[in-house]
Amino acid sequence: MSKIVYYNIGRVYTADVDGGYGRVRELTDVQIIVDDEKIEKIVPDSQEVEADQRINCRGLTLLPGFVDAHTHPVFYNSREEEFIMRIQGKTYEEIAAAGGGIRNSVRKFRRATKEEIKALTRQRIHTFLEYGTTTIEAKSGYGLSTEDELKSLEIISELNDEQNLEMVPTFLGAHEIPDEYQSRREDYIRLLCDEMIPRVAERKLARFCDVFCEKGVFTVDESRRILECGKQYGLIPKLHADELYPFGGAELSAEVKAISADHLLEISDEGIARMAENRVIAVLLPGTTFFLGKDGYAPARKMLDNGLDVAIATDFNPGSSTTQNLQLIWTISALKMKMLPGEILWATTCSAARAIRMENRIGRIEEGMQADFVVLDIPNLDYLPYHYGINHTVMTIKKGHIVYRKAE
Ligand code: NIG
Ligand code: FE
Repeated sequence: MSKIVYYNIGRVYTADVDGGYGRVRELTDVQIIVDDEKIEKIVPDSQEVEADQRINCRGLTLLPGFVDAHTHPVFYNSREEEFIMRIQGKTYEEIAAAGGGIRNSVRKFRRATKEEIKALTRQRIHTFLEYGTTTIEAKSGYGLSTEDELKSLEIISELNDEQNLEMVPTFLGAHEIPDEYQSRREDYIRLLCDEMIPRVAERKLARFCDVFCEKGVFTVDESRRILECGKQYGLIPKLHADELYPFGGAELSAEVKAISADHLLEISDEGIARMAENRVIAVLLPGTTFFLGKDGYAPARKMLDNGLDVAIATDFNPGSSTTQNLQLIWTISALKMKMLPGEILWATTCSAARAIRMENRIGRIEEGMQADFVVLDIPNLDYLPYHYGINHTVMTIKKGHIVYRKAE
């Protein structure tokens, strides 16, 4: 068993879970001893420590590795032509209704081989690590047939074994109604419930079941059926909710006891209250609002005032948010949702870990937690969202080992 010591750390920032949401613990003059993938001890810098390997952090800043609790990384084609159409005045919904959007991605995904998509996903994973993200939630949802949804989840599972980014899989067969079911949506819902969910669960290919509950996609009643069915097979519910219109998605998330409801730009006061009562986590995706060129960001302050636990993620996908860079999302969250750096730290580490049921292992730099950190070239926490649009990451450490190092 090898012991690794991270020394010469400038400062560590991690959520102060006893202090409450947004409170940050700052540690200085410490070194971190890692043993068997975990933080064994955090000791004063002055202490003599025996170790097999010593890593100099050069006086830089350590944060818990970022946790991105909502991503769609398994896709084939990019969709820059739709981006240009949006600049020219078409809306995301108009493009989708005309057969673009998710259905555009689905057609191309189905024609591509598993190996082709896997190679592209592998590159995207590397970019996450480069930006300091050490764990993501990864959704299927561009296959929308049994075979292609399995292909998507198999890619996640196989890449989990071969590389360093940890991915927690979510089945999102209810991302859209595919072309061939447009005039018989009930048959697609039956396919989801009678075939896809049982097959996914039997092979343990997903931990969560998600639905795009939205006007023009899946109704509240349809979403409820799909999520209840997933629950019967042990899949924990999640929802894309109240993104484009107030639609009752937040209320449904409380009713089905989802772990999270995501997006929530158009959430009602009732939805906020019901989510708070049922401890459903709000996963906010302000990069999507930004990239869709909209003004109405999710009401983060109101949610926090009402006691909701808020996480923030990229929503990385080829249509509505194309960045893997959570540091950029820090800046958008600060400016557009008026969240403070301490709150955003929570939202992208420990609350994000809660949104994927991993809070006992990741999301905090504390003794006994998995040794996932990001070493950033920032003098303090406020500087991270302030100097925006660049990558501050110098090293990314997963399970105690360096998995990305910036070129000198
Ligand atoms: O979270 N809302 C649904 N899914 C994605 C968009 C996917 C796409 O456009 O390809 C989202 O924004
Ligand atoms: Fe999404």
